[in-house]
Amino acid sequence: MVLFLRNRKEVKQKLKLYRRLIVPFGLLLVFGLAGCNSNETVTNVGKLEFQQALKIPELLEPTIESDGTKHFSLTMEPGTTEFFPGEITDTWGINGSYLGPTIRVSRGDKVSFDVVNKLGETSTLHWHGMMLPPAMDGGPHQMIEAGETWSPHWTIDQPSATTWYHPHLHGKTAQHVYRGLAGMFIIDDEDSKKLPSNYGVDDIPLIVQDKLFTSDGQLSEDDDTPYGMLGDEILVNGTYDPFLKVTASQVRFRLLNGSNARAYNFGFTDGRSFQLVANDAGLLNEPVTLERFMLSPGERAEIVVAFEPEEETILRSYSSGAGITNGEFDLLKIVADSELTGSSPISKQLSSIEPIEVPADAKVRQFKLTMENEINDKLMDMYRIDEVVPAGTKEIWEIHNFGSEHNFHIHDAAFRVLDINDKEPPEYARGRKDTVFIPHGASVRIAVEFGNYTDLNYPLMYHCHLLKHEDEGMMDQFLLVEPGTESQVPTELRDDGVEHPHNGH
Ligand code: C2O
Ligand code: CU
Ligand code: CU
Repeated sequence: MVLFLRNRKEVKQKLKLYRRLIVPFGLLLVFGLAGCNSNETVTNVGKLEFQQALKIPELLEPTIESDGTKHFSLTMEPGTTEFFPGEITDTWGINGSYLGPTIRVSRGDKVSFDVVNKLGETSTLHWHGMMLPPAMDGGPHQMIEAGETWSPHWTIDQPSATTWYHPHLHGKTAQHVYRGLAGMFIIDDEDSKKLPSNYGVDDIPLIVQDKLFTSDGQLSEDDDTPYGMLGDEILVNGTYDPFLKVTASQVRFRLLNGSNARAYNFGFTDGRSFQLVANDAGLLNEPVTLERFMLSPGERAEIVVAFEPEEETILRSYSSGAGITNGEFDLLKIVADSELTGSSPISKQLSSIEPIEVPADAKVRQFKLTMENEINDKLMDMYRIDEVVPAGTKEIWEIHNFGSEHNFHIHDAAFRVLDINDKEPPEYARGRKDTVFIPHGASVRIAVEFGNYTDLNYPLMYHCHLLKHEDEGMMDQFLLVEPGTESQVPTELRDDGVEHPHNGH
């Protein structure tokens, strides 16, 4: 314990040094000198003891309504969490003190929620990766005032995927997520059930987050880097210093980068390879054998890892550059039991859903990310509609990054990365996605498939998922409309039932 504290202080001092380097370095980056590397790599390697059993968020049991709807209750509330033995940290959580339960449903299920806000301030709860009616999306327009309950409902109609939920109040998303409001939302279908699916046994969620702690063990909200919060400690599922004992010879891990800004380049310290089976928005057609893959904030991946009895390895994030990709972190020690339940090797054919293709005459839209962290030279405006998109269509979106490192997420959509600087995307990012890393200086083209539900009052968002950038306005809004009606749609929202933060109640 005392050892932990001393180590944390040491790392904190190092981090201060690193900050002194990164601020001017961030400026250099912004002025186009990316590529040179700060030789100060923030790391926790060598300081963990892997003493705490990995927490597995509980699976939330629904109540079944008379029409078969699965009804879930979620309460956002403040609490305290013991990340470090004997130390009490103030946190926020959902149905608990830190993070939220895992929701698991199948394609075709009708779902409904009561989301109760006991935070003492306004928030929202967004279903990241979900295809649903825009009014149910939980973005900045679906505010839940302190003490209120929000009750969205929809039918799950998309391929199996590892999605997640988190607040999305404009200007407060970074703080609300950082304090602990986030959870996993798993969608199953026939294809996904062929993979290891025994939750907590051979199907393990891994929500990876970096944190900064003050010397008295509180979450520091000091996010004064060009990217926002970059912490020097790691929590996995809200567990500090975690280990996991596995009892199966094939284990599926669902990785979620639930961090505010940091990207992770995942691999194992023994160099083992594993099978990537899913990107953000669904299973791959075939597994891909990999040793490393990267997730930027908001991205997910599913991997299947094979174990021999009594093996030990560490899941680590390897430094792969500057800015949000800098840093080397031990994440989780995995220890295989002396006897493992066998399972047959995973199938070579995972999803039968065709990769997203756009028609030859597909509309192409251009998005410019600027040095000022704007999209097309604009900051977010809750009243402005930036794009009007025919529902259910496919388009090409081209994102040109003239700023620092960013990523790009679209609500109520799935996409395939066509190319990055005219080259094929990395092998680990070729499946269905909803969030994509946009390297400094890069042009990224994506083929986007939009949701089917239209709504003229409630816009959907696309934005950088570095939460401080998003909060500061690196976010725009689009409406999904009946195809053919695009030109009749107003480009501003009036006070017609849409709730806005500044126009009273
Ligand atoms: Cu994960 Cu617009 O959000
Ligand atoms: Cu989202
Ligand atoms: Cu950004």
